[in-house]
Amino acid sequence: MHTLRFITCGSVDDGKSTLIGRLLFESKAIFDDQLAALVKDSAQYGTQGTQMDLALLVDGLQAEREQGITIDVAYRFFTTDERRFVVADTPGHEQYTRNMATGASTATLAVILIDARKGVLVQTRRHSRIVAMMGIKHVVLAVNKMDLVAFDEATFNTIVADYRAFATDLGFASLQVIPLSGLTGANVLAPSQRLPWYSGPTLLQHLNTVDTSSTQPQLVFRMPVQWVNRPNLDFRGFCGRIAAGTLHPGDAVRVLPSGVQTHVKAVLLGFDEVAAANAGDAVTITLTDEVDASRGDVLVAADAPPEVADQFEAKLLWMSEHALTPGRQYLMKHACKEVTATITAIKHREDVNSGAHLAAKILGLNEIAMVNLSTSAPLVFEPYAVNQTLGGFILVDKLTFETVGAGMIEFALRRANNIHWQALELNKATRAAQKHQNPRCIWFTGLSGSGKSTLANLLDKRLFAEGRHTYVLDGDNVRHGLNRNLGFTEADRVENIRRVAEVARLMVDAGLMVLVSFISPFESERRMARNLFDAGEFVEVFVDAPFDECARRDVKGLYAKALRGELKNFTGLDSPYEPPSSPDVHLLAAQHTPEQCVEQLLLALG
Ligand code: ADX
Repeated sequence: MHTLRFITCGSVDDGKSTLIGRLLFESKAIFDDQLAALVKDSAQYGTQGTQMDLALLVDGLQAEREQGITIDVAYRFFTTDERRFVVADTPGHEQYTRNMATGASTATLAVILIDARKGVLVQTRRHSRIVAMMGIKHVVLAVNKMDLVAFDEATFNTIVADYRAFATDLGFASLQVIPLSGLTGANVLAPSQRLPWYSGPTLLQHLNTVDTSSTQPQLVFRMPVQWVNRPNLDFRGFCGRIAAGTLHPGDAVRVLPSGVQTHVKAVLLGFDEVAAANAGDAVTITLTDEVDASRGDVLVAADAPPEVADQFEAKLLWMSEHALTPGRQYLMKHACKEVTATITAIKHREDVNSGAHLAAKILGLNEIAMVNLSTSAPLVFEPYAVNQTLGGFILVDKLTFETVGAGMIEFALRRANNIHWQALELNKATRAAQKHQNPRCIWFTGLSGSGKSTLANLLDKRLFAEGRHTYVLDGDNVRHGLNRNLGFTEADRVENIRRVAEVARLMVDAGLMVLVSFISPFESERRMARNLFDAGEFVEVFVDAPFDECARRDVKGLYAKALRGELKNFTGLDSPYEPPSSPDVHLLAAQHTPEQCVEQLLLALG
């Protein structure tokens, strides 16, 4: 029997619960709140083979569960004589697009609810755009509460005309409009005498018959490796779920990104060897040669491999209250692989109402944008429109593990791949040896006026006197030149730190001891900076002086200004400072003299 997975979009006020309740009740549904187990099973055993299924988003969802953050998606199941249905019911509040996107990721059809009294709302448009970007091709516009507008045909027609005008660009393959009332049951299962002017199907009739086969399954074989099963030296099985195509013993396959070619020895479904396996099947594959492949690699048809790249243009839905900031590093989950990703540019943001392209420096909650992104390792990918498994990804905050974005790869930015790291014959080690020192990046962080620059200056003099080769990068100074175009918004501070961290890295590569004195208020960027260096090279120094003490000293008069409201985004006041959780050196700058602090530092540096 055919299974149709659909999602309902709308808010409680639109009468969504009543409508779903009626569908379930009247079709004698099996209620089942054990959704997690069922969703997991269907994903693992691939019984929904014909359905689009963005497993990685489900993976992301699972990751969130492990972190103890709940996403509210209730899956309900019901059956008619014609079909089985899985409904993803998601809360409709504006702030919960994350739930909606999660529900939409596995659905083939979306029922978009409208309150006949209110017509097409911003939220309706937002939901429709998300549905479209997630690749859902079939939409039902359910104009609900027709009883409250006296089943008026003109009201219905106006809403439909509004929606059609809006939806033309969204690329839906089918759009069925249905006037109904969840409350009275009109047009939910049975037609209503109150709607004599409507001759189309009822909601359930449509769900029972809608042809969603138009999306042609992709025929070329692709399977991300989820796990390598090596119970003993004689057996090496590559486990995963086939994302596209069919696989037989004897087929020529390639392991990407390495490109090594080999043949399939056997295909196992469970413990049984089979003659063929299809998209959606969870299989174990053995190969004729001993090849190296691990989690996150992708097995593909040898004669039609997908592209591999580390720079992309992608569409992104931002799902966090904390704005997306270009330059910041996020954890990216793509197929079975995890990499670090940075948004290098926001090409444009989409206006939810008109679809117009708007300029944007950051992305707020629920915003959709076209972005460029760069990944720490190459990804085996296909455009989302071709293959949802190899084209979809989620972004996760590295500190909170919250899922913050869902993205769809459009294409690779090939030109960016042509830049290679140039290996020079004189390297860091030779340059450092010439200077008889261990290169270091000594990173001072703390509030403005905490004493970072004073300490950097003192330490610099001490090291210099000992014959060390040093340099000081100071926030105020670097902001006069290299970072002249940056201000104090969160986005600008992220970029400020990214640039100075890169410069510091080059200086360490040149064999220097570089002292960086920047407020660097965000843990995320300090961690990014640390990761640019080899183990032991980066020394984080927390210059800890309380806000009140810095305000009292107020060497530059900025605290007074900020407290008078004449300076915006001032650190510690209306812009946050995140103290380091485990600095290498913690200096209590209000209690000790600068000389004492420097002694402590020299001791720590060894
Ligand atoms: S950071 O936050 O991006 O790391 P950075 O260290 O480069 O800051 O610059 C901080 C210096 O800029 C401060 O020491 C202060 O002299 C000056 N400044 C001007 N406006 C601000 C502000 N709004 N917040 C903090 N510092 C400011």
